[in-house]
Amino acid sequence: MKPRDDKNDHLAFIERGTGPVVLLVHGFPLDHSMWDAQIETLGNDYRVIAPDLRGFGRSRVVPGTATMDQMADDLAQVLDAIDVREPVALVGLSMGGYVAMAFCRNHADRLGALVLCDTRAAADAPAAAQTRHETAQRVLAEGTEPLVEAMIPKLFAPSTLDGRPETVERVKAMIRQADPRGVAAALLGMAQRPDSTDVLRRLDRPTLMLVGEYDILSPPAEMRAIADAMPNASVVEITAAGHLSPLERPDAVSDAIARFLTECGIA
Ligand code: MLT
Repeated sequence: MKPRDDKNDHLAFIERGTGPVVLLVHGFPLDHSMWDAQIETLGNDYRVIAPDLRGFGRSRVVPGTATMDQMADDLAQVLDAIDVREPVALVGLSMGGYVAMAFCRNHADRLGALVLCDTRAAADAPAAAQTRHETAQRVLAEGTEPLVEAMIPKLFAPSTLDGRPETVERVKAMIRQADPRGVAAALLGMAQRPDSTDVLRRLDRPTLMLVGEYDILSPPAEMRAIADAMPNASVVEITAAGHLSPLERPDAVSDAIARFLTECGIA
């Protein structure tokens, strides 16, 4: 089936397949295309919806601050706009995970199952928040090139950095294409996000934590600790992957998500 490529007042998104809804939320400073492999595979059995968060991809840029709560509300509005009323399986990577946690906080009734990939429940420490403010100013002044230099070494496993130049180049291109105003707004929004540990501790929906073996930004031990504190969570570590496991090991990530959804009875 040809993917539907849609844009409403809120967000641009790709839609593919039929069946239970799986909503894929991208990380920073990327766009929905980071999920291309998962859209293709999961779209055979599910109705996959992959939006560009505000300020990214083809979605509208809203200068200022883009909070995780606003981004979660945008997701709910997309679901409204395409008449999805049933609870969805929500998959978020890193910043997409922060947005997913805001969705748990504010739209829990719309959540059937949760997959958190390479993300953190903790808020930023003051120094990290300060760095985000400085980076936002720099990106507004100079564009996104400084982010390419700063982020690329931290995003991948050594084997991806050394042996998968096409994957690394694809991510560099995504960062270069990002609108500096959208990037700055997301940085300021991430800097003020609250700690979500308690939200996750109380969450009774089935949850899968996916984490790259070599993720240095949201390390496996930290994700395991969150899962241990949750009532209904399991962890799958993706070998030979770093922070961008869905791009580095696309089949392993698609398989882990599909297996989890089947185990949850979402099929
Ligand atoms: C991401 O991949 O979305 C970022 O690492 C999130 C962050 O900067 O905290």
